[in-house]
Parts: sequence; structure tokens; C-alpha cells
Amino acid sequence: NDMIKKAIFPVGGLGTRFLPATKAMPKEMLPIVDKPLIQYAVEEAVDAGIEEFIFVTGRNKYAIEDHFDHSFELEETLQAKGKTNALKTIRDMIHQPGAVSYVRQQDPSGLGHAVWCARHLINDEPVAILLADDLILGKSCMAEMIATYKGGNMVAVMDVPKSDTQSYGIVTPSADDGHIVNVSGLIEKPPPENAPSTIAIVGRYIIEPGVFDQLDSQEFGTGNEVQLTDALAHRIGKVPFQGLRFSGERFDCGSKIGFLQANIAFAMSRDDLENRLQNWIFKRFSKP
Ligand code: G1P
Repeated sequence: NDMIKKAIFPVGGLGTRFLPATKAMPKEMLPIVDKPLIQYAVEEAVDAGIEEFIFVTGRNKYAIEDHFDHSFELEETLQAKGKTNALKTIRDMIHQPGAVSYVRQQDPSGLGHAVWCARHLINDEPVAILLADDLILGKSCMAEMIATYKGGNMVAVMDVPKSDTQSYGIVTPSADDGHIVNVSGLIEKPPPENAPSTIAIVGRYIIEPGVFDQLDSQEFGTGNEVQLTDALAHRIGKVPFQGLRFSGERFDCGSKIGFLQANIAFAMSRDDLENRLQNWIFKRFSKP
């Protein structure tokens, strides 16, 4: 699968659920421990062999562009002070010249619209899409997807409680071996009584060029937004469509509880923090 070299990161969302934190700062810059959400997504893509990074931004998202660029003053200061580890950390995240592009989505008209805004940067090739809100601890989910991908469209999926179907795109499985799900239908955010299953789309996709053609129609769907789910659904029967149950643990960092859980789980996976955090939580919250 050497063909999948580009990834789209839709980062135009307003982040209203995290106000006031996101009033002047993009929600994708919210840190999990010491790294912004968007950097985790980019690193997952790098681990999957992605070489070109396309951010679909909106107003007030400058911090993301600056984050992936040099900061000369900071680098010089770190150098002068001999802080080589910190210097390496920020230099390692600079990509090859020209590997990063920014497309502006002028109106927040939905995920399908955001992806469509990047169409001029995509040729006749499959492309990865990563939503930074969905943070995955463990192996690179996109790397697992690319390793399994055999053409057509692919989404990462996970089982969710029946009561939560209204927060996700939900798939109709035609076959399911516990790892790969063959998808014969898709519906965006159905109420539990209309949900065809409890297998939900997590924000990782590999899409084929036909999805962009479908998005050209700019049909509005659920929430009066152009839904990527709807465009993908139109492609079922024309090209293969699979869901992949990935091995990592997913955190919904678009919600406060998921964001807090992610911070704790990621901190607990780090040698420099695990013991002290665990001891503190135990002492602070255990009942006398
Ligand atoms: C988007 C997609 C949805 C998917 C979800 C995963 O929804 O539209 O199909 O299940 O991401 O996080 P959003 O959470 O942006 O409303």
C-alpha cells in the first residue's frame, strides 16, 4: 500500500464544547499531558508512512500552522541554554519543506464539506483522513488500516453502547469476523431505535477518489451538514467497503470526560509520571 501517502486532517471545527478554553485557541491544540491533540494524530499518520499532511483549517486556527513550523527564537534560546532534549523535541516535528499544506474551509458546513475542500490537492489516489478528537492509545490505528487495506473505502470501527449510536456514524455489517467488518450500509447518528448495529465509525478513514466525486453534489444530511458518512454510503456496492476493529484504545477527546480520561491514561503510560500520579490519585481520592 505504498499508494497512501497523503492524509487530510479536518481541523476547522469550533470546539464549542470546550469553551472558554477554545475561545482563542483551536480545540486541536488542547494538550494531552504535554502534546496537543493534533500532534498525536500527525504522529499516528507518520507511523503509517504518510508523507504529505493536509490541514483543513478555519478562522482562528493560526496556532496549528505555527505549531508545525520553526520557532527560531525558541530554538535559539534552547540551544544557548544547552537544552538539547527540548530542542530535539521541537525540531523533530518539522516536516520536509512543502509536505504540509493548509486549506481554508470558509464555512463550517460539516465533515464531508471539510474533506471536499482538500479535493484539489488529491489526485487519482486513496487518501487517509484522521480526526484529532479521536485519540488512540497504542499502535498506530492508521498503520493497521493501511496494512489491511485492499482498495475501496475503509473506516476504523468500534462497538459502542446502544444508547450512544446518536453520536456516531453506524454501519450495517454484512459479515463480521471480529476484526474486519464488511459494510453494506451506513447511517449518520441514528437514534438507538433506528440503529442497524452498535458498530460505530471512529475518526479514521481511507477513501477512494469516487468519494470526492460524490461530495461534489454537496448534499446536506444530518444536522444540516454535508456528511462524509453519506458520501461513503453512496459508494457502497460500487467499491469494497470495510470496517477495521483496531487494537488501540480510543478516547473521545471531543467530550470533557473522554479528554480527562485520555490525560490520565496517557500520563499513566509514561514512566516519568505513572508512579507519582497513581500514588497521588490513590491518596487524594480513597475514602478514609
Ligand atoms: C464524525 C462523523 C461520525 C463519526 C465520528 C467519529 O462525527 O461524522 O460518523 O462516527 O466523527 O468521532 P462528529 O463526532 O465529528 O460529530
